[in-house]
Amino acid sequence: MLSKASVRQFSSSAASAYKVTVLGAAGGIGQPLSLLMKLNHKVTNLALYDLRLGKGVATDLSHIPTNSTVEGFGPDNDGLAKALKDADVVLIPAGVPRKPGMTRDDLFNTNASIVRDLAKAAAVSAPNAALLIISNPVNSTVPIVSEVLKEKGVYNPKKLFGVTTLDVLRSSRFLSEVVGTNPTTETVTVVGGHSGVTIVPLLSQTKHKDLPKDKYEALVHRIQFGGDEVVKAKDGAGSATLSMAQAGARMAGSVLKGLAGETDITEPTYIDNPLFKSEGVDFFSTRVTLGPEGVKEVHPLGNLSTAEQEMIATAKETLKKNIKKGVDFVKANP
Ligand code: NAD
Ligand code: LMR
Repeated sequence: MLSKASVRQFSSSAASAYKVTVLGAAGGIGQPLSLLMKLNHKVTNLALYDLRLGKGVATDLSHIPTNSTVEGFGPDNDGLAKALKDADVVLIPAGVPRKPGMTRDDLFNTNASIVRDLAKAAAVSAPNAALLIISNPVNSTVPIVSEVLKEKGVYNPKKLFGVTTLDVLRSSRFLSEVVGTNPTTETVTVVGGHSGVTIVPLLSQTKHKDLPKDKYEALVHRIQFGGDEVVKAKDGAGSATLSMAQAGARMAGSVLKGLAGETDITEPTYIDNPLFKSEGVDFFSTRVTLGPEGVKEVHPLGNLSTAEQEMIATAKETLKKNIKKGVDFVKANP
């Protein structure tokens, strides 16, 4: 019998046969994200894991007539290992969301150990998978996963992604509201990380580089703190879930296109990045071309305005601390 890899190599239709696993699939993000992955035709096997309701969500989605099987798992009967087994892409939105008044870093104490334990399981059952980390604080949870995979001897920096796509979506939307255009025509590269001042939209690289100073500053602030708008509006019932599901599905869709050998697939994403390593910033979001091995090319930042250079300098200082916190956590709590 041909292996899955051989089948992919020889059959163009099988080139779109992928197993995607969602960990935290019954949550506010997990459910709509799983729905969107059920609608992605590259996905032939969708595995949904949660502490509760994984099987219920899977049964519900399994009635949708797209070309994928859906299986649900809970912690019983080795469910996590089964959900992860041989996955090509693993999406991780497991963990607690913010309430008003909290920063993403305030989630660290709860989410760090959740993400660490899921990464340990992925290292064993899906060592070749592309891992897409959504759980906050992303600036620290991605370094946590990296440390776990290093300890297990299966770290592949080309296949670990912090999902910052929501900042990209917000940038398109908010910019279009300021300049009165259709948001689908506005593309903004967002670099740095995924919290407050570490989110740096490169608006000087758009068609709208000459915004008046007050409008520019208000727009940058709205992009950096867009998550707070949702947290406030949900008033204690969580943070962005639906827009995040759309963002996660876009990022996963792009990773799958890259794995399938489609060309010119680029997304900004938070990765183990050579760009500022010499300055002690090991993870940084830049525009990345995706390919069959995961990260194919890391793009340079390009021309920056003075304001953007200053924002990046500020972002790097915060990121250094966020990254160290994640790495130290795993060293102290392996
Ligand atoms: P939620 O509470 O609605 O759902 C989280 C789910 O994770 C729950 O179903 C819960 O049972 C599950 N879970 C908890 N521990 C688990 C474990 N050990 N294994 C498997 N599942 C587990 O929260 P949400 O609104 O879906 O948000 C989830 C996370 O995503 C939060 O940390 C939030 O801050 C983050 N988030 C990130 C972004 C981003 O841009 N990267 C955007 C929005 C939210
Ligand atoms: C977001 O940007 O919406 C997420 O990171 C959730 C949050 O806590 O704001």
